[in-house]
Amino acid sequence: MATTAPLHAPLGATNTDIQYVEAPIRAFAIATMFWGVVGFLAGIVIASQLAWPLLNLDLEWTTFGRLRPVHTSAVIFAFGGNALLCTSLFIVQRTCRARLFGGEEMGWFLFWGYNFFIVTAALGYVFGITQGKEYAEPEWFVDLWLTLVWVMYLVAFGGTILKREEPHIYVANWFFLAFIITVAMLHIGNNIALPVGGTGRSFGAASGVQDAMIQWWYGHNAVGFFLTAGFLGMMYYFIPKQAGRPVYSYRLSIIHFWAIIFLYIWAGPHHLHYTALPDWAQTLGMVFSIMLWMPSWGGMINGLMTLSGAWDKLRTDPALRFSVAAVGFYGMATFEGPVMSIRAVNALSHYTDWTIGHVHSGALGWNGFIIFGSLYWLFPVLWKKKALYSQKLVSWHFWLATLGIVLYITAMWVSGIMQGLMWRATDQLGFLQYSFIETVAAMHPYYVIRMLGGVLYLSGALIMVWNLYKTVTMVESEEPQALPSGAVVAAAE
Ligand code: HEM
Ligand code: HEM
Repeated sequence: MATTAPLHAPLGATNTDIQYVEAPIRAFAIATMFWGVVGFLAGIVIASQLAWPLLNLDLEWTTFGRLRPVHTSAVIFAFGGNALLCTSLFIVQRTCRARLFGGEEMGWFLFWGYNFFIVTAALGYVFGITQGKEYAEPEWFVDLWLTLVWVMYLVAFGGTILKREEPHIYVANWFFLAFIITVAMLHIGNNIALPVGGTGRSFGAASGVQDAMIQWWYGHNAVGFFLTAGFLGMMYYFIPKQAGRPVYSYRLSIIHFWAIIFLYIWAGPHHLHYTALPDWAQTLGMVFSIMLWMPSWGGMINGLMTLSGAWDKLRTDPALRFSVAAVGFYGMATFEGPVMSIRAVNALSHYTDWTIGHVHSGALGWNGFIIFGSLYWLFPVLWKKKALYSQKLVSWHFWLATLGIVLYITAMWVSGIMQGLMWRATDQLGFLQYSFIETVAAMHPYYVIRMLGGVLYLSGALIMVWNLYKTVTMVESEEPQALPSGAVVAAAE
């Protein structure tokens, strides 16, 4: 199904009769919700396993070691990835005023191809087929399939930009393009391997510290380009839409873009402090990480200031609250990251739950919230409804999720710093003051609190699923007549 409603107000586009590709985008939106619930549930399961090890069930398929990558891939690649494909393909068509290159068939190929990758990767983890590289666990045959899908994604996205009717390439597209190209480069660079005949296994091309260096060049830039650049594309489209205001400073958004893509790529070695990696490389990673603070906050300020003159909307539009809080969490994670990259700080934080707290302030607060804000805007538009089923339920979702994040990250900060301090505590004679098992026991209450935080976060997401389901299935006569949200204003344009 295609629509004829162009929705891109900030560029001042007027009505045209372009038949935008929408059905696969609707499928991506549903898949985002589905994988979100699966990923959060897996998070709760592994959080519970850390608190109560009996829940490993003594079965190889259900151990923490196998389910942890199921969680990380489900939230990053399945929940985050489907959201990125959904929003980027929606935005590129609207801001370029061009139908998706390759049309509906291309959209469906990307949808089924990408989700097939997710399922094969997850099955591999459960059955123990993994390269053992964090966030790059799938074996070579799954990697090859993803490469094909990703190249088609680049063709679809780039092709749409090339045939655009709008002379300018809106900044959100720059961020999406950088995300697509860099992820292709990282994925190929980190997965060069020699398959071992018939076993489904492989040997990586690099070894030793070079292997570690390439892995964290990949890992850090997965954060920088998958979890950041692409998500900034969402920020630069949906916040102006929801606020009904243009981007605060378009010039700042361009500086933000070039600074982010230039600096991120060097920062990977901060994951390898105090290892066999040469000192100069560690220092390089640290310095570039600290420099990253500046453009990150420039972007945050740009996102927040877009609300100038529209702050009152925060009172009436709870979906906008999600997007704005997301930008706040982005600021928090990108302040904390540079601090943790300082070697003296990393000596305390590395290997501890402090890292896990940092990850989840970014993941739950920034990635999760900007996705929720975007979905609340997109659903009424994609399903041609005048408004969401219930604003009150959006509010409930917001407060439950926020409380969940607060429980999660404060528990991890306390347990992480405590863990680090206990590991290094020595008595007057220089002997370690605590045995390792004492530090493990001390974590227990915080692991329970983290798990409860996850339950609140998931409950909020389930409320969203119900609200969006009701939005889609509402018949015309039941639709709210008021136009309270950005989505509705936009749909009416
Ligand atoms: C209900 C929500 C969630 C819960 C309960 C949860 C729980 C967990 C747990 C228990 C771990 C393992 C920690 C450890 O090994 O010590 C973990 C790791 C991780 N989670 Fe989550 N998680 C949730 C949501 C998310 C989301 C939405 C994302 C990303 C968008 C995410 C990304 C990650 C990443 C990247 C790691 C690995 C961190 C590292 O290795 O440093 N999580 N999560
Ligand atoms: C200026 C921005 C940022 C910098 C400089 C930064 C820096 C860091 C540092 C130093 C670590 C700990 C490395 C270690 O001790 O092993 C880390 C871990 C991590 N950060 Fe950030 N961070 C930033 C922003 C973010 C954001 C926005 C996210 C989004 C979710 C994020 C996700 C992660 C993840 C997933 C890890 C865990 C990697 C792992 O060990 O598995 N970071 N980051």
